[in-house]
Amino acid sequence: PSCVLAYSGGLDTSVILGWLQDEGYDVHAVYVDLGQPCEDREAILKKARDNGAKSSRLIDVREELCRDFAFPVLQWQAKYEGIYLLGTSIARPLISKVCLQVAREVGAEAYAHGATGKGNDQCRFQLAAEALDPNVKIIAPWRIKKFQDLFAGRSDMIAYCERKGIPVKASIAKPYSSDENCLHISYEAGQLEDPTVDGVSIIDFGMTVSPQEAPDKVETIKIGFESGVPVTIDGVKKSPLQMVEELNKIAGRNGVGRIDIVENRFVGMKSRGVYESPGMTTLYAAHLALEQLTIDRETVHLRDRISPEVAEMVYYGFWYVPKMDALMAFMREVQKPVTGEVTVGLYKGNVFIQGRTSPYSLYDAAIASMDEAGNYNQTDAEGFLRIQGLPSRVMGQVRPRKY
Ligand code: ARG
Ligand code: SIN
Repeated sequence: PSCVLAYSGGLDTSVILGWLQDEGYDVHAVYVDLGQPCEDREAILKKARDNGAKSSRLIDVREELCRDFAFPVLQWQAKYEGIYLLGTSIARPLISKVCLQVAREVGAEAYAHGATGKGNDQCRFQLAAEALDPNVKIIAPWRIKKFQDLFAGRSDMIAYCERKGIPVKASIAKPYSSDENCLHISYEAGQLEDPTVDGVSIIDFGMTVSPQEAPDKVETIKIGFESGVPVTIDGVKKSPLQMVEELNKIAGRNGVGRIDIVENRFVGMKSRGVYESPGMTTLYAAHLALEQLTIDRETVHLRDRISPEVAEMVYYGFWYVPKMDALMAFMREVQKPVTGEVTVGLYKGNVFIQGRTSPYSLYDAAIASMDEAGNYNQTDAEGFLRIQGLPSRVMGQVRPRKY
């Protein structure tokens, strides 16, 4: 039998690459490039082949990750449990899609990944894969007794690699685990499992400086959107990936986009996580400001009610489902007028709005103004409130409130 493996070149997937062959599989290694740090891509692919992979390839989906996954979720203003921007969650269905494309190409019937049985990632990998190919066989070694018995801990994995001649990088043991792509870096586990431990004191942040270290001066940029899609910085056209990468740099040097939370995993337990997503944090703020100008009240309130549900679906891994297709179609319609520019100030961990303009602005200074009558007759408010207050007046008569 043969399988594809979502391969990162790290310790876990290197061991899994060996173990799958021990189990009789032909393994095709797939390195999905999402912008994770990688010193030498060719070396990683060669390492997979040296260690017995039938084939190994790198597939760069960074633009697709930003354009087709992160930006639609941004348009929903979706944040899991009110705060997490879903940087890891949203990348998982794309990894599954790419791996299944390779599986079809090489004729593999199984799809293996290195996510544990305790986490969210296994859910996202599997729910996406099964939606795309209902017949795919998923192999999650960490959920298999035989594999667990062989590898109780890291030292067993390192010993296995030494036996098999698989080179293990002498990586400086970090006191936590991290997951990085162009959208964010997440930090979990290890010393961070104690929720009283200050993450800042142990984490070596990769994208942001601390607010204290950031310049003592506001940095101002202009972000342009076309129908809800971020397209320019200071008037210069950018691809989705360029938008995210450049904003990561600009916001990162101003200490923007760090959070430290305790979140509810899909599999039930609470888990503590620290995240940094400077570029996306800036985009969420700028996008919201432009919506305030261009989307009518009822539509935006409807979006705000459904947004937590979209975040939950992304977090759980329900990406390739009809409900999500429908929600995305709805959002494309909603975003049509969200075109214009937002001036954003960045300062020591803060993002603030300094101005916004749009050709589709619904904001009418004459109507809103306290200074002029505009096209608004204050006498009309008399009748409006007489009718709005009718139920309260009736109830006040029948069941008077104490005050
Ligand atoms: N808790 C975050 C999420 O569920 C981050 C998960 C990080 N995954 C990892 N394999 N390190 O999206
Ligand atoms: C894992 O368990 O594989 C990482 C953490 C998660 O998926 O939530």
